[in-house]
Amino acid sequence: MSNVATYQLLDGKQCSEAVRADIASQAAVVTAQRGRAPHLAAVLVGNDGASRTYVESKVRACQSVGFRSSLIELPTSTTEAELLDLISSLNRDPELDGFIVQLPLPKHISEEKVTLAIDPRKDVDGFHPESLGRMVLGLPGFLPATPAGIVELLRHYGISTAGKHCVVIGRSNIVGTPMSLLMSRNTEPGNCTVTLAHSRTKDLPAITRQADILIVAIGKPEFVTADMVKDGAVVVDVGIHRITDTTKKSGFRLVGDVHFDDVAAKCSWISPVPGGVGPMTITSLLLNTLKAAERP
Ligand SMILES: NC(=O)c1ccc[n+]([C@@H]2O[C@H](COP(=O)([O-])OP(=O)(O)OC[C@H]3O[C@@H](n4cnc5c(N)ncnc54)[C@H](OP(=O)(O)O)[C@@H]3O)[C@@H](O)[C@H]2O)c1
Repeated sequence: MSNVATYQLLDGKQCSEAVRADIASQAAVVTAQRGRAPHLAAVLVGNDGASRTYVESKVRACQSVGFRSSLIELPTSTTEAELLDLISSLNRDPELDGFIVQLPLPKHISEEKVTLAIDPRKDVDGFHPESLGRMVLGLPGFLPATPAGIVELLRHYGISTAGKHCVVIGRSNIVGTPMSLLMSRNTEPGNCTVTLAHSRTKDLPAITRQADILIVAIGKPEFVTADMVKDGAVVVDVGIHRITDTTKKSGFRLVGDVHFDDVAAKCSWISPVPGGVGPMTITSLLLNTLKAAERP
């Protein structure tokens, strides 16, 4: 029997390039019509290295599609009241189409208060309850960036989803829960029968083995192994972790929540880490910002 793997990659880098080319041409139209480019601001509080990397890549992505971007950096000592004041002024800034406050925030600042303070019309991360409520009801609005990026990735590669059993592992407000809702909507991609698994789920492998489409957002490095995956499944790996690797010059490598080398050969399609969901999250943020800028 041949050992040649037959899986195909859900390549988020390639998909992002295609979607971003479209965004750039639509951004040029918006810029010509309004006399100013779509403008995204990112607020970074504190010195978390991973958060800084994410924010800087979002800012770079804006530049690549002709958006204006502003990076607002605040010290860890920033009080909740100071951050809420800043959000209030960003809400009122007529030159700004959308903004994000990078999470996690320092412990003394309530993420809930911050999320609620953002004007839903500028909520390009799609985390505000109004954005989530609109998503649930199928009304126009900003979709949360990571789940929306995954839907776009499935669409780009023509993955058929209707009638399939989709298992989502993880029920966070920003990934797992909205992902499960998007996959169950009467849309294409969508129309799946969805199971949402979490830390209290019993016999997780028995459930994941039933998945035609398995979306993993659990936050544990290389958690999903081949014995948990059905032959021919589509596997989307949301996780991203740095693990020590002394064979690398940097001393680390990036892995996902799925053990790629173990699982890939069983899959029809699988997203890699890096280069899978990560670039799609940023692309969704750009799409939401364009949507905000196009609003009359
Ligand atoms: N690539 C990107 O753009 C991107 C964007 C966002 C997040 N991420 C990554 O995606 C991963 C998930 O992020 P998140 O914010 O959704 O994580 P999170 O808030 O930590 O949620 C993890 C979820 O996994 C569940 N879980 C934990 N252990 C489990 C187990 N043994 N069996 C079944 N379920 C279990 C938890 O269940 P309970 O609810 O019961 O605790 C929780 O619902 C992280 O690695 C994060 O870095 C990547």
